[in-house]
Amino acid sequence: MTALPTRTGVLGGGRMGAGIAHALLLAGCEVVVAEVSEETAAAARDRVLAAIATSVERGTTEESAEALQARLSVGIGPAALAGCGLAVEAVPEDAALKARMLGSLDEALDADAVIASNTSSMSIDELAAVTSRPARFLGMHFFNPVPASALVEVVVGARTDPALVADAREWVAQLGKTAVVVRDSPGFASSRLGIALGLEAVRMVEEGVADPADIDAAMTLGYKHPVGPLRLTDIVGLDVRLDIADYLAERLGPRFAAPQLLRDKVAAGELGRKTGRGFYAW
Ligand SMILES: NC(=O)c1ccc[n+]([C@@H]2O[C@H](COP(=O)([O-])OP(=O)(O)OC[C@H]3O[C@@H](n4cnc5c(N)ncnc54)[C@H](O)[C@@H]3O)[C@@H](O)[C@H]2O)c1
Repeated sequence: MTALPTRTGVLGGGRMGAGIAHALLLAGCEVVVAEVSEETAAAARDRVLAAIATSVERGTTEESAEALQARLSVGIGPAALAGCGLAVEAVPEDAALKARMLGSLDEALDADAVIASNTSSMSIDELAAVTSRPARFLGMHFFNPVPASALVEVVVGARTDPALVADAREWVAQLGKTAVVVRDSPGFASSRLGIALGLEAVRMVEEGVADPADIDAAMTLGYKHPVGPLRLTDIVGLDVRLDIADYLAERLGPRFAAPQLLRDKVAAGELGRKTGRGFYAW
């Protein structure tokens, strides 16, 4: 059993990064969260501390908040992660930013350290190519919110060392989650299947097959999905799903072409829960 490295780091302590830092702390690691400024570092620290407080309150950890907090530190820029055996990159989904940050992270870390990107859509091979360590690079795609989700997609690049994939599986288990191993390909496993179902559900509304609530009930009651594909589209954001559909259509072909109804709703500002209207009124 390969244990998680003692010293770990997270680059970008936003919604996902703070959740990942919290999971690493609960698994017993020291965690450094690197941010962009003093202000954002303090905010990242507050997010992790809030998650720690919730875990202590709910009894999901046997450690005290003080003991967990003692293993957390924050810093500025990739250099703050020097000495970490594992660094998870969780900066915003912007190709130029990720390339710049991963290049600097590569320079800051020891040669045998592992870099994992939490990207939800970008090619792991393309991200790995900006570093000097494609064999020690892979995707670890966490889900939102991290504490409540049981899954991590371990995304394997063409040059990722198979021994690292085995380690990553074990690390995910130590984080109390289950790994699925996916070869680097557009949408990995989760987005590709989730979007396929979501797009078909939108096409069914478009064709007048059934109302959104009935389509969703077919999946929740008939297939035991926790939430139906249209309600989920509303929660995620119609604009977010349209962007992913366009990205997948470009790479995997017209089976991911977005239905006109989805484009029309996005153009009309009906983005789902965040704007009060999507396939449902919120
Ligand atoms: N939100 C989700 O549901 C979700 C799910 C899975 C994966 N992801 C992926 O996780 C990554 C992060 O997403 P998020 O939702 O946490 O975003 P977010 O905006 O909440 O957090 C990003 C953080 O990165 C920081 N940051 C920006 N530039 C930086 C820099 N140069 N150096 C260090 N820190 C910097 C920001 O200050 C911010 O705190 C993205 O790649 C996203 O695609 C998101």
